[in-house]
Formats: sequence, structure tokens, C-alpha cells
Amino acid sequence: MPKVLINYGHRRPQESKFNARLIAAVSDLPRVTINDLGTRYPDLNIDGEHERALLLAHDIVVLQFPFYWYHTPAILKEWQDEALSFGFAYGPGGDKLKGKSMMVAMTTGGPVEAYQHGGYNQFTFDELLLPLHATANLTGMHWLPPFISAGVLSKTPEQFEAEIAEYRERISALTNPS
Ligand SMILES: Cc1cc2nc3c(=O)[nH]c(=O)nc-3n(C[C@H](O)[C@H](O)[C@H](O)COP(=O)(O)O)c2cc1C
Repeated sequence: MPKVLINYGHRRPQESKFNARLIAAVSDLPRVTINDLGTRYPDLNIDGEHERALLLAHDIVVLQFPFYWYHTPAILKEWQDEALSFGFAYGPGGDKLKGKSMMVAMTTGGPVEAYQHGGYNQFTFDELLLPLHATANLTGMHWLPPFISAGVLSKTPEQFEAEIAEYRERISALTNPS
């Protein structure tokens, strides 16, 4: 049965409202590991060896984060730069992630309609996530449809509850493929 690693990158995890609730909703699921990078590495000093060992021990890698300036928070970028190393994720012998899957799970302040051509942010989520999609391609990982909770600040509590339940189902389904 597939094992899921959730690499959670938040700048200030203790101040998170939305990601913290999403994390709490999946933390008791079997075969799911929560890797809270912001808490583990408050100084951004990522332990590449430890992170690569975690990657090897899982089949599906979820990158969960609040969308910051149209990309991942610095802690998750630093994780990419440190963990996805030459000879491991790419280059000669760098096939250790081949056949695994990558999924983005993110929350955004901007609503879905702002992420359209001609909209407030001008580009779609698929376009803005291209660097991560390309990273999945280069490392031989399957790109799974992202989970995006958009416009979190203007959601009703009921709307967010429904998305929390949806996230739990998505993650649970990854560990129980039919
Ligand atoms: C530094 C910073 C940059 C942000 N950049 C964006 C952005 O580019 N697009 C967007 O839709 N929301 C942006 N936001 C809003 C966050 O995505 C939103 O506050 C976050 O998803 C809420 O999740 P949390 O409660 O887990 O922190 C930004 C927020 C901060 C603090």
C-alpha cells in the first residue's frame, strides 16, 4: 500500500490558520507521514540526508504550503534545493524518485477567479505551478492534480470545513488506491 509523505512548508507554522487545520485533518491517517519543515528547521538549515531518506521511504510526496508571492515559501524552496540533489534526483544515477508521485496542496489568499487570464493575477494555477510540475517531470515523478483551497480568507467556515473533508479524502485515497 502506498505511503504518503506530506512535506509541509510554512514560514510560521504556529501562526497558520488554514494549513494547520488541513494538516490536523490528515495527521491520523495510516501510512501518512507529516514532515513539518518550518518547525523542524526554523533556521532553514535543511538536513538533506534525512530528507532524502524520507523520500526513499515513501511513494507519494505531497508539497503542502500557503501560496506566497506566487510560489512556495522559502523553507520549501530550500528543501527542494537541498534534498533534490545531483546523483539522487537528477544527473547520473539520479533516478531515486523515478516512479514516485508528486502532489501540490496549497492554500491561497486570492480566489479562483483571480487566477484566470485577464483576471487579477493574470495567470492560472496550472501556469504558476509549472516550475514544480517541471521538477516532477525532471525527476521522473508523476504529477498528480493539485489540491487548491483558494480564497481562504473569504471562505465561510462551512466552505472550509467541506474542503478539509475533501483533502482528507484525497490523501486517504492516495494511500488506498482502488
Ligand atoms: C508573504 C505572503 C505572501 C503571499 N502571497 C500570496 C500570493 O502570491 N497569492 C495569494 O493568492 N495569496 C498570497 N498570500 C496569502 C496566503 O496564501 C494566505 O494567507 C495563506 O494561504 C493562509 O494560510 P495559513 O493560514 O496556513 O497561513 C500571501 C501571504 C503572505 C503572508
